[in-house]
Parts: sequence; structure tokens; C-alpha cells
Amino acid sequence: MTGATEQWSSRAAFVAAAVGSAVGLGNFWRFSYVAGENGGGAFVIVYILAAFFLIAPILLAEFVIGRRGGGGVLTAPANVARESGRPSAWVAIGWLGILAAAIIPAFYIVVAGWVLAYIGVAASGALAGISGEAADALFSSLLADPVQVLIYQNAFLAMTFAVVAAGVHAGLERVNLILVPTLFLALVGLGIYAASVGDQAAAIDFLFRPDWSELTAQGVLAAIGQGFFSISVGMGAMMTFGAYAPRSFPLPSSVAMIVVADTLVALLAGLAIFPIVFGHGLDPASGPGLMFVTLPVALGALDAATLVATIFFVLLFFAALTSAISLMEVPVAVMCERGFVRWQAAALVSGVYAGLGILCALSFSTFANVHPLGFIPTFEGRTWFDIFDFIGTNILLPLGGILIAALVGWGMVAGLATREADFGDGWLGVLWLWLLRTLCPVAVGAVLIVNLVPA
Ligand code: PHE
Repeated sequence: MTGATEQWSSRAAFVAAAVGSAVGLGNFWRFSYVAGENGGGAFVIVYILAAFFLIAPILLAEFVIGRRGGGGVLTAPANVARESGRPSAWVAIGWLGILAAAIIPAFYIVVAGWVLAYIGVAASGALAGISGEAADALFSSLLADPVQVLIYQNAFLAMTFAVVAAGVHAGLERVNLILVPTLFLALVGLGIYAASVGDQAAAIDFLFRPDWSELTAQGVLAAIGQGFFSISVGMGAMMTFGAYAPRSFPLPSSVAMIVVADTLVALLAGLAIFPIVFGHGLDPASGPGLMFVTLPVALGALDAATLVATIFFVLLFFAALTSAISLMEVPVAVMCERGFVRWQAAALVSGVYAGLGILCALSFSTFANVHPLGFIPTFEGRTWFDIFDFIGTNILLPLGGILIAALVGWGMVAGLATREADFGDGWLGVLWLWLLRTLCPVAVGAVLIVNLVPA
């Protein structure tokens, strides 16, 4: 097999990079607003089930393709397919991934830009004791100022570029090994602090008491899409990271750590955000701005509001950065393999992100009433931002996930997949293969069809 030229220097570096990719704005910003829009409890249960039974197996499959096939997303799936005598058309997995790696960052950097802006707001002391209405007004005034928003998101993009341009060792590895443990220590500290001062009852009720009548077919797709997004699965980010993993790293325990850590962070974030939603009569279904209105109120009510709020937004920024670098690494790895100089590849990709990012940024001001695909029922009333999010998260990631499951479950010759996944002959490997062959493609496929094919 053509091995990747780059390799992680330790298993800790591999796991930190993968956890860094998974834990991001998806856990805080996206999880809270999508759970809010879909009624809470029942959505959260579907989300957790999907994370462990659909997405974790596919994450392992992604690692297997990456490590076995080696190289970027246009190389690894083709190598794995060829080795088992399958057509090279499996490279479609890679093209889907590259498409997703263009679409997802376009809205991701916008939200990361908001986070950057809020570090400054928090440090200025403006959040101390802030009311729900004032927090709402503050966020609206940021959105209404496209110049400011664009400056922040491009500053974030520039930092992402700097890390990716520095390379796997000097960039990705170093940043993740410092930021990911810091993030976790600080989150545990903040969680203990928040639990000791806040009232959690309404939030626990909303997040964990299912009201199945609230769950729609669209809600199930939203939960599955959120699972793929939050764990960074379906577009080859984890495949690319898997290609940098030496044969000696055990994959199943790495997958367990990543999925458990990611799910815990999402639930903790929900427990921090929803008490405020209910305590202040805010609407849980208010959309992408939810976190930016609720968190300032929650943090602002604390004793050391300015300090804690500033730390919190800095942590969110760390989380966003370690995810964004994994998104950018997908096309950059492919280009490096084809002879590009790394920093030039990263610069070109950043240019694409900056351009597409403008459409998403302006979706909250100049283009707020522009609904480019309004003639298609599924996209009625959706702005550029909404469309990028929906297509990337709810269509491309699940579709990529189905193909990844199929290549490893059905495409690879018997025994090869379980061996490459370090399972040996145990029952866990049998269960994993079964999930990849049947439950994953059938469940994810059915949900996609029900939602996207007009009745
Ligand atoms: N998992 C990241 C988050 O939760 C987003 C992401 C999606 C990163 C897909 C890489 C690939 O914020």
C-alpha cells in the first residue's frame, strides 16, 4: 500500500487531533440550537443512539480506510477498493468529502467569527449582569454589521491557515496536544462551577424527558446529521487523520474515547445553555443565534462574570480552531499529495473558504431575505447559511457515511476489515461488520429518502 508520508509522532497526538476535530462548535452552538428546534428530549435520545450505533462504527470504518489505503481522500478509498478487487469508482467517497470540505467551512468560519467577536465583548465587561433582552440586542447589532463580522471570520480563517500551513507536526499536532487537554480541564472546572450556582431542573427535563410526539421525520434526520457533524464523520477528515496513524495504534479504543468525549461535551453544553433559555423565557427554537443570546446571560449572572465569560469564549475559540484545521486538512492533504507546496495549498483553500464565507456571513444582514433555492420545497425560506448547513450536514455527511460503511462492510474482502480495525476474531468485530453492512446503510439511507424524496 502507498503509505502516507506524514505520521503522528505519538498515539496521544492522534487521539488529541481526532478529539480536537470532533469537539467544536457542533457541540455547543449547533447541538443546542438544533435540539431546541426539534423539541429536546426525543431528539437527544435519537442523537445519542445514532452517535453510538450508527456513527461510531462508521468512524472506525473511516479510520480503517485511511490507514489501510494511505494518503488523502482521493487516494485511500481507491486503494482500499482496488486491493479487494473493487472498481475505482469508490473514489466518489473522496469527491463527496471534498465537496463537504468546501461547504461546511463556509458557515463554520462565520460562527467562529462570532465567537472571536464575543471574546472581546466579554473581556470588555459588557456581559456582566446582562439581561436576556440586552443580550439579544447585542447579538443582533453584531449581525447587522457585515464589515465587523467579515473581519472576525477572516481573522479566524487566517489562524486556521497558519496552523495547517505549519504542517502535521509543527501545526496540527502541537496545537491539538496543547489545546485539547486545556479545553477539557477548563470545561470540567466550569461545569462544576455552573452546577453549583445554576438551577438545572428545567434543562434536565427538556434534554432528557422525551416527548415522542415532538419528533418528526425531519427531526430524526436532523439528529443523525448532527451526529455526523459533531463527530466529524462522513467527509474524510477522520480518514485523513487515520492515514497519519501508524499500524501500532489501536483503533477501537480511540473511537470509543472520541465518541464518549464528544457526546459528553454536547450534553454538558446543553446543561449550561438550556437553564437560561427557560429561566429567561427565551425561545428554544430561535435558531443559530441561540447560544449567543443564552450563554452571555448565563455567564453574565456569575460572580466573576467578566473573567469566566472571557475564558469560556476563548475555550470555544480553541474548540472551533481544532475542528476547522481538520476541515481544511482534507483538501490540503489531497493537494500536497499532488505536488503542491503545503502553505500554497492552504492559501488556495483559504481563499475558497473566504469567498463562500461571504455568502453565509451576509445571510444575517444584506442577504437575510435571499432564499436562493426557495423553489424547492425542502429549501423554502432558507438563506445561503441555512442551505450550506443543510446540504453539508444533513445530505453530504450521511451520504458519505453510507458509502464508507458500504466500502468497508461489503467491499473489503472478508477478514481484512476486522483485522485492520484491530478486532481479531472476537464478537465485537462481528457486530461492527454487521452494523456496517445492514443497520448503518439501511437506517441512514431510509431517513435520507424519507426526507428528500417528495412523497
Ligand atoms: N465536528 C466539528 C464540530 O463539532 C465540525 C466538523 C465536521 C469538523 C466535519 C470536521 C468535519 O464542530
